[in-house]
Amino acid sequence: MIKGNSSKKDYKKLIKEVKSHDRRYYQESSPTISDYEYDLLVKEIERIEAAHPDWAEENSPTKNISTDTTGNFSVATHRVPMLSLANTYSEEEVEAFIQRVEKLTERESIPFNVELKMDGVALSVIYDKGKLVQAVTRGNGREGDDVTANARGIHNLPHQLTGKFTGPLELRGEVYLPLKEFKRLNEDREQQGLEVYANPRNAASGSLKLIDSEMSHKRGLEIMLYDLVNPPKEIKLQSEIAPYLKKMGLPVFTKEFTHSAKSAKEVLTFAHSVEKKRAFLPFEIDGIVIKLDDLDERSIIGATNKSPRWAISYKFAAEQAETVIESISVQVGRTGILTPVANLKPVLLSGSTIARATLHNQDEIDRKDIRENDTVIIEKGGDVIPKVVSVVSTGKKRSPVWKIPSTCPHCGGDVIQKEGEVAIRCKAGAKCTGQYIARVKHFIAKGAMNIENFGIKVIQRFYALGLIDSLSDIYRIEKEDLLELEGFGDRSINVLLENIEKSKTPELYRFIFALGIPFVGVVAARVAAEYCRDIKTFLKVSKEELLELEGVGEKVAASIVDYLLDPVHRKEIEDLLDLGITPTSPAEKQSGHPFSGKSFVMTGTLDGYSRLEAKEIIEARGGKIISSISKQTNYLLLGKNPGSKYNKAIKLNVEVLTEKDFKDLI
Ligand code: IVH
Repeated sequence: MIKGNSSKKDYKKLIKEVKSHDRRYYQESSPTISDYEYDLLVKEIERIEAAHPDWAEENSPTKNISTDTTGNFSVATHRVPMLSLANTYSEEEVEAFIQRVEKLTERESIPFNVELKMDGVALSVIYDKGKLVQAVTRGNGREGDDVTANARGIHNLPHQLTGKFTGPLELRGEVYLPLKEFKRLNEDREQQGLEVYANPRNAASGSLKLIDSEMSHKRGLEIMLYDLVNPPKEIKLQSEIAPYLKKMGLPVFTKEFTHSAKSAKEVLTFAHSVEKKRAFLPFEIDGIVIKLDDLDERSIIGATNKSPRWAISYKFAAEQAETVIESISVQVGRTGILTPVANLKPVLLSGSTIARATLHNQDEIDRKDIRENDTVIIEKGGDVIPKVVSVVSTGKKRSPVWKIPSTCPHCGGDVIQKEGEVAIRCKAGAKCTGQYIARVKHFIAKGAMNIENFGIKVIQRFYALGLIDSLSDIYRIEKEDLLELEGFGDRSINVLLENIEKSKTPELYRFIFALGIPFVGVVAARVAAEYCRDIKTFLKVSKEELLELEGVGEKVAASIVDYLLDPVHRKEIEDLLDLGITPTSPAEKQSGHPFSGKSFVMTGTLDGYSRLEAKEIIEARGGKIISSISKQTNYLLLGKNPGSKYNKAIKLNVEVLTEKDFKDLI
């Protein structure tokens, strides 16, 4: 970070830096710095602009709301702009805010409504005549992504309000993922070999902005509504809004989480009591929001382009703890990347005992000058894996500078660092012990070969006993090998062997994914499988062919071809096939067919096809069947004795196909 006397060049550099963090936070849902570090950068820009008003740029983050639109949705305009909120981490600034409001309203001891600051994604929700009709993200404050289809799956957001309504009602709130759902989601993702979300906010934002609404609905999103844009005349105070919304069946803060305060002292007392409860709440919060209670007074004070003058958020710094790094060890992943990990003197942080923290990579260690035996600050701040923030003190005789070893700590093989990459990898590939264990773990995972009852402890044990040394060895394990092993009864042996046997006919894409080819996730594996259709073709596929496929770039194509050229990998795949692994081909799909990419809803009975047959015909031609009808549905397939879906299709203007139309199109 730039501090002290900054040049104009520093200022411009900071703006660029903040903008790239904005993109990662709002659009990609994967920030690389903490909110606190981000807020410090913005405060630094504010400081420079105050000292050099003539440098201040129109596009400065101090004057603009960074957009969260993704390009994946249609964009909708907000009738009333969705502003941002000024924030502070300092008690003095809370006091200054209250004094400022008192001065502007010319009132003393004026009441403020104080409530939790939920750590999620802002959403505007519109009801018309009591019906949920639209939901739009904040976007740039003026227009945002229309995520109505996804918002309909927010668990506690009613589609219909309780009571009688004539006109529209616009609400604002925060969409969040309860911690329980966050944990479940990440466990699933880990099992499937997908990247886990770093924290509940990123998971909430990623889930709300999924293109596939059905998938979004399964994520378990919830909302907390904190504002009504167009309150009826009789509502005079912010504190009257929550009870008003509650009567309609809308989710609002319970009394425990809101408070009325007339002074900075009262605000801060509430803040401290909330901070104590923070670790025990079922969702993440990052502070409290202090709002002037009187709505008329608010409109008098007004707002800047970016945020109202009548509210501020007092943010809690990330939860931190101090401890000592007892040693630094190195983990190796399935693709050979070496990750340094700090082994800590166990310490309590946000309710759990922490004994390890990631150090990410050598660059991070160098930048923070982290060494063994240093006393450090660790931080959780919602992230899954705690990280080391900084070194606070060192022993009298400091340990030497720590460097990732020049050979792999698991197999002793050479390591390399490719140009332009921070990652350092073990070169030994399939021959490295650490990589082997990590590869087996990936190979047997749910989204891959799906071998149940084969945990990491069992893998390590079988490896140590020399029972397995390659992926194909898993299919060579025999009952006799296990009979003598302590802890393995007849039943558990049978279950494991049955599960291994059951895994022998994976869909082709699962098999490709299970191989653990660097950069090849489930999506790329599916695309390659759909193109190649069988394993023999996959083994011969060229880089040029792969590059033609949608969603496969240079990195993935090169990685697949390099992997398949390696004789060790080649032999491994051939052994697997010889041992009876038979990847199944994807169902025939015809691209370019009028059904391709189209969604279908079925109603009634067809003469010539069963429901299942119709489904297979549609899917084989690239279409998909969905269960409920909406404006986005392309076709309603109409059978005899249709249900209510038929009327709905007519109302929503969805094209209706009779059985004859369907036959003609096939
Ligand atoms: S009031 C004019 N109340 O925090 C903006 N915001 O950092 C009024 N947030 O964009 C917002 N909990 O997404 C308000 N109780 C709460 C909140 C809250 C979370 C979010 C909201 C806002 C952001 C600002």
